[in-house]
Amino acid sequence: MVKPTPKTFAVKSFGCQMNVYDGERMAELMAGQGMTAVDAADADLVVLNTCHIREKATEKVFSDIGRLRKDRRVRALDAPMIAVAGCVAQAEGEEIVRRAKVDVVVGPQAYHNLPALVSAAAAGAPALDTDMPLASKFGALPARRRVGPTAFLTVQEGCDKFCTYCVVPYTRGAEVSRPFAAIVDEAKALVDAGAREITLLGQNVNAWEDADGRGLHDLIRALDRIPGLARIRYTTSHPNDMKQGLIDAHGDVESLMPFLHLPVQAGSDRVLKAMNRSHSRDSYLRLLDRIRVVRPDIALSGDFIVGFPGESEADFAETLSLVDTVGYAQAFSFKYSPRPGTPAADMGDQIAPAVMDERLQRLQAALNRDQHAFNRASIGKTCAVLIERRGKNAGQMLGKSPWLQSVLVEDDVALGDIVTLQLTDAGPNSLVGRALFATAA
Ligand code: SAH
Ligand code: SF4
Ligand code: F3S
Repeated sequence: MVKPTPKTFAVKSFGCQMNVYDGERMAELMAGQGMTAVDAADADLVVLNTCHIREKATEKVFSDIGRLRKDRRVRALDAPMIAVAGCVAQAEGEEIVRRAKVDVVVGPQAYHNLPALVSAAAAGAPALDTDMPLASKFGALPARRRVGPTAFLTVQEGCDKFCTYCVVPYTRGAEVSRPFAAIVDEAKALVDAGAREITLLGQNVNAWEDADGRGLHDLIRALDRIPGLARIRYTTSHPNDMKQGLIDAHGDVESLMPFLHLPVQAGSDRVLKAMNRSHSRDSYLRLLDRIRVVRPDIALSGDFIVGFPGESEADFAETLSLVDTVGYAQAFSFKYSPRPGTPAADMGDQIAPAVMDERLQRLQAALNRDQHAFNRASIGKTCAVLIERRGKNAGQMLGKSPWLQSVLVEDDVALGDIVTLQLTDAGPNSLVGRALFATAA
C-alpha cells in the first residue's frame, strides 16, 4: 500500500548507551532528509530502537506499537509509519513484520539505509534490512550536529565473548573497531558541536584496537590533546581486555575520569565458568588491585546477574562477599533472563523466580549500602562538576563529579560549565553541592 512520505519523525531508544548513540545518529539521518523531530504521539514516522537483552523485550515492542496505533485512532489521525530498529529488529525481524505489520525493520548494522527503507515503505515495497555488511555504516552517516555538554561516541561494536546468557554477539555481530582517524575526527566534531565530555562506547570498548596495533589507551591519549575536551570516559569494559597500557593511562591522563565500569556478573568461580566469562573471582580482584595502584581513588561500577542456572545459595554468598570486598561506587544488577538461542537457556537447574527475587533484593541492599557510603564519604570535599542539564526543580542544575556521581546545585551555573563545588549533602543517588567559583568555560 502506498503511504504519504513522512515529514516528521520521533526516535525512541531503549537499552544500552550504544542504542542511545544509534538513536541520535538515526535522528541526524532523518533530519538530513529534511524531516522534523516531534513527539512520538504526533510523528509521521516513529522509530522504535529496541533492546533484546532481557525478557519481554519483544512483547514490549508489540505493545508499544499497539499503543501508538490506538492513540492515533482515538484522535482520528492516520496511523504512523513504524520502523523497528535495534537488537529486537535484528533478532526477531521477520516475526515483527509478520505479527505487527510494521513498515520498516532495520538492524543495528544497517541503519544508514533507513532513509531508503522509509522511501521503499512509502512506495509500498517491503522494507527489511538486517544485513551485517562488511563496510561499516559509519561512513554513510551525516556529520554530527549540535550536542549537549556530554556526548557518546561509539568506537567499537559487537562482541566475540559469547557469555552463555547473552544475546549481544548475535544481535550486534562480531567485534569490530572503528578506525583511529575516524574516531578522532568525530570527537573533534562533537567538541565543535558543544561537547565537553565524551564517553567512548563499545560492548567491549577496551578491546578496541587498530591494524597498527594501537589500543584504547592510544586513542584516549590522542583525544586528550583535543582543545576543549575536558573529560573522557569509556564503557563497557571486559576484565580480560583491561591491558596495562589502559591501566597506566588512568595514572597520568588528566582528562580520563577516575571511574571504571567493569562488570563481574558473579562472585563464584563455578558460576563464572558456566557463564563462560573467562575470568575468575581472583583474577578480577587482582586486576582491581593493579588499577588502584595507579589511581587509588578510582570509583568502580559493575553489572551482576543473580539466579544464573545452577547458582546455589553458596555461590550467591560469594557474590555478596565479592561486593563487600570491592566496595562498588555504583552497580547494576539483574535477574537472569533466559534468552532464546543462548546456551544458558537450555541448561538444567533453572532457578525459581521467587529465589531470584529474594537474591536480587539482598544484592541490591548491599550495593545501595555501598553506593550511599561512597556518596557520604564525599561530604565536605570539593570537586569539579560538569553541569549537564537542568534539575527537576526551578533554578536547580545537575552535573557529574569526576566519579560519575550526580550533583545538584542551585547556584548560578550554566550548561557546560565545569564548576568547583563544595559537597554538602549526600543521598543514595545524588549529592548536593555549593559553588565556590567557576573555572573558565
Ligand atoms: N558488554 C557488557 C554489557 C553487556 S549487556 C559486558 O560484557 O559486561 C549489560 C548487562 O546486562 C550485562 O553486563 C549483564 O549483567 C546483563 N545481562 C546480559 N544478558 C543477560 C541475561 N540474559 N539476563 C540477565 N541479565 C543479562
Ligand atoms: Fe554479552 Fe559477554 Fe559480550 Fe558482554 S562480554 S556483550 S555480557 S557476551
Ligand atoms: Fe540491548 Fe542491544 Fe544494547 S540487546 S543492551 S540494545 S546491544
